[in-house]
Formats: sequence, C-alpha cells, structure tokens
Amino acid sequence: MKKILDIITEKMQQAFVDAGYDASFGRVTVSNRPDLCEYQCNGALSAAKQYKCAPIQIANAVVSKLDAKDYDMVEAVMPGFINLKLSGAFLQNYLEQMRTEPDFGIEKPGAGKTIVVDYGGANVAKPLHIGHLRPAIIGEALKRMHKFMGYNTIGDVHLGDWGLQIGLIIAELQERQPELPYFDSDFTGEYPAEPPFTIAELEEIYPTASGKKSDPAFSHKAHQATLELQQGRRGYRAIWQHIMKVSVADLKKNYDNLNVYFEKWLGESDADPYIPAMVNDLKQRGIAVQSEGAWVVPVAEEGDKKEVPPMILVKSDGSAIYATTDLATMVQRMQDWSPDKMLYVTDKRQNLHFEQVFRAARKSGIVKAETELEHVGFGTMNGKDGKPFKTRDGGVLRLETLISDMTDFVRAKVVENQIVSGSEVEDTTRKIAMAALKYGDLSNQPTKDYNFDMERFAAFEGNTGPYILYTIVRIKSILARYGDWKHLPIQEPANAFAKDLMLSITKFGPAMESALNSSAPNLVCAYIYELAGAANKFYHETPILKEENEELKAGYIALMGLTKEILEVCIALLGFEAPDKM
Ligand code: ARG
Repeated sequence: MKKILDIITEKMQQAFVDAGYDASFGRVTVSNRPDLCEYQCNGALSAAKQYKCAPIQIANAVVSKLDAKDYDMVEAVMPGFINLKLSGAFLQNYLEQMRTEPDFGIEKPGAGKTIVVDYGGANVAKPLHIGHLRPAIIGEALKRMHKFMGYNTIGDVHLGDWGLQIGLIIAELQERQPELPYFDSDFTGEYPAEPPFTIAELEEIYPTASGKKSDPAFSHKAHQATLELQQGRRGYRAIWQHIMKVSVADLKKNYDNLNVYFEKWLGESDADPYIPAMVNDLKQRGIAVQSEGAWVVPVAEEGDKKEVPPMILVKSDGSAIYATTDLATMVQRMQDWSPDKMLYVTDKRQNLHFEQVFRAARKSGIVKAETELEHVGFGTMNGKDGKPFKTRDGGVLRLETLISDMTDFVRAKVVENQIVSGSEVEDTTRKIAMAALKYGDLSNQPTKDYNFDMERFAAFEGNTGPYILYTIVRIKSILARYGDWKHLPIQEPANAFAKDLMLSITKFGPAMESALNSSAPNLVCAYIYELAGAANKFYHETPILKEENEELKAGYIALMGLTKEILEVCIALLGFEAPDKM
C-alpha cells in the first residue's frame, strides 16, 4: 500500500499541475502545527519565487483544484501555506484496506533479498553475562524486522569457539586430570562418549584457568594447546567437541529463555577451513603485505579523519586472529548464501574492528560490491546509578541472574495485585518480565548507553513494555466481551479521539520503514508508544461497550481490533508477547 503522505503528495502535485504550476512544488509533510492541521504543503512559497507572484494566490488556485471529499479541511493561509485535515471517508478507506491486506498492506523492500544478521556472539565455555543481553535482543529485533519487511533472514550466533579460551580449558583440565586419554598422544582408541565435566564444572574451570594467564608456564601451555587444537590434534579436538556439546546446549537454553533463536549456530571454528586459501590468495594478489613479520591488509583511505590501522591477517607467529576469522566467515557466507546484506550487532567498542574488516572485504572483493555491510555498534548498559553493572562482590553479573531478578520482581507484583493465580502466574510473569527487559533496552537508540532500572522498566505506566502489554490486554478484554469482531469493517471516525487513533494507525508503514532503514528498533517502540497512547485516550473518552447504537459500536470495535493487531505484530518484532490478563 502507498503511504498516506505519498498519496496526498500525488494529489497535491496534480493540483499544482491543474492550476498551471510545476508538480515538484506539491510535496506534503506532516504538520508541524498539529493544533491547526494534520498535513501541510509549503510549495506555494517556493513556487512564488519562480512564477513571480504572491504565494497566497498560488495556494488559493491549488486549493480550488483539490478534491474536497478527501479533506475535512483544506485552506490556503497567509502567506501561502496549504493546511489539510483528512476526511473521515479517506481515513476509513485507508484503514479498511490496511485491515484487509496481508501485514496491513505494508510494502516489502526486502522481497527477494537475503540478509545475514550476525548477533549474539556468545563464547563457548563462558556463561552469558549482562554484556550479552544487548547483542541478543537488538539482533533478534533487527532480524525479525527484516523478515517482516520481506527479507530472507539468516541469523548466525557466530560463536567464539576457537580461541585461547579453549586452550586454557585444555591446559587446566590436563593439570587436574592428566590421566585422561585425551592427553596421551599415543592413544589411538576411541575417546569416551561422556564429557569429562558438567556445565557447572566447565563454568568453574574456565575462570580458574583464565586467572592463571599471568603465570608464564601456564600461559605457554594454553597457547600451545590452542595451536595444536587448531592444527588438528586428535585428543584436543575430542575435548573441544565435549566443550561444544555441553556449552552449546546450555547457551541454547539461555537464548530460548530470552525468545532469541538463531537459524545458524556457526562459529569461528567453521571459518577455519576457509583461512588458508583466503590468506594465500590475498598474499598472491598483493592485497596482503608483510609488515614486521606479520601479514596485514592496509585499509587506510584518503580522507580518513582518524587513523585506520592495517587489518592484521596473520600474526608474526603464524596464527590467525579475530579479524582473520571474520573475513574468512565472509568467504563462507558469500559462497553459501550470497547475501544482499550482512548486518553485525556488537558492542560499539568493536567499531574499528568492523571498519577494518569491511574495508578489507571490499578491497579484496571477498564481498561483492552490491552486498551491503553494516555494523550496529551499541552502547553500554549501566546500573541504575549510571555506573558499570557489577555484582555485589564486584564480579560480572550473569545474564541468568539479571533475568531471574527481573522475573522475581515482576512475579511479586503479579501475586500482590492478584493479576492471575495458580498455574497462570509463571506464564504471565515471564511475559511481563520479558517485555520490561526488552522494551527497556530497545526503546533506547542502540548507540546510546542506558541505565538498567528494574522498577522503571517494570512499571505498568509510562513508556514501558508492561504499559504496552497492558494496553493490548485491555483491548483484548473489550473485544472478548463484544464477541465476534474479526469481520467488522472500519468506519468513519465518530469523534476526534477516534480520528487521532486512526491517524496513528496510518503511520505504521512509515514508522516501520524508518526503523528498518536506520536499524533502529527504538523507532518501533516510539511508534507503539504513540499508538497505545492514542488507543487509551480513545477508550477513555468513548463509552465503547455501552454504546447503544449497534452500528456505531461495531465501528469502535473494529478500530480497537485493528489497533490490537498492529500492537501485537510490533511487539512480536521486538521479541515479546502479551499475556491474556494483566
Ligand atoms: N564473540 C565475540 C565477542 O565476544 C563477538 C562476535 C561478534 N561477531 C562477529 N562476527 N565478530 O566479542
């Protein structure tokens, strides 16, 4: 469906032409004086310069050419503005079309295109901590938004599963259980099917080992183990398999809890096989050059405002690094999926890394010119006091703990306010907690830092997830009391509140489009906050179920129904859902 602004702009352009002026002056914008009008066109002011006459004269001539039935009000005002209010009939038609077309008639710019969304970024053998909240929920929202807008979407968690952390675990395990067959290089039999550790043990082994990094002997062992693992040492590969199995199952459980689902569970290790050929090729074509024993890809460009150092491809000791893996992962993605876009969601402290990798990908032709590359670098989530989040003993807070703190907080409210009882408590609690957590995060512009404030995020009033849920629940209950509503057509607005709500509904398409174009789930949040506000206002001011005129009542209900459906689609894009009662 065309956007309202485009429709009325076209009509305005035609009116300019019919009045004898150029069409280009007919651009309509949303009014910046909502007290006076809904939309406005300032084209007569610029046209006056070209046609050398008074702007008001042009405005008047244009107004006389507009079709009166489209507008409740259309007037030319001094010095030459054209102010518009849409007619009820126009809005009714537009919303009825939205109601009956799939996905509210939204245009699908992604149709036929594939996007890879690289998000999550968990590291195996390390528990998810609060730093993993943002990449998970922003990435999931961006992926769902792209899918809704027609893209074929591939979400890839891009596990950190190949680096020093594995070597550290191997080294630590060897110190604890040297008798295990994995460490016996002469062993040729089959390794045990059961892992030599549980997830709880693994989560203790890793930090212990990591704490010993400053011990040179231990550190050397860990590096050596990493190298041998990557070179294919059988016993180490077997340990790695165990680590992967135990850890990935646990990570999946945690992401499931957040309603975050990846299409692909690939990792740095999956890029490894692509590295040798890629490195050779880059060396041969002179794209990689030698520098102090290492191989690097110079990526500085003319006009750079800050220094962009070369991307290190191979370190002087022959090992590959984070950037090498990301470049090789691009080789794999282009080969397997040939995406039109790759979107990376990480902490903004990785801005430079992605700048270097993207430039190297372009320079080498690893990524074809038409494929868009974008890095969404997000800011830090701080504590309520604006300081970095820490546990009481100064450690890093686990994501699980953060989620369960929020859940406990919400559960207490649910129980105290007797929102639901018995077996429904957990499900309702979980849905509200998810909304609080995700909306609290997503309503901020991704690049900005924000403070995590449990009380504020979980409040049922204000710009919060629970407020949006509450609005949906309230509408659902009106609809349920009314009965069968799905077939009811949209009617002309019966009062000013209905009209405001209808105008908010028409902004769905434009809001989704700008949210997608600027990779900004916060714009979806801002939209539903406005829509929920208009819905609540309408509900307050209009006795919906008490209305005696059945025809009128059916119109109110149809409007509530459409509002609810749009709100529900939007929260699904943000990754949460509404309970039945609140
Ligand atoms: N595992 C990485 C980290 O902990 C994040 C991975 C992000 N994705 C990527 N393609 N580099 O920082």
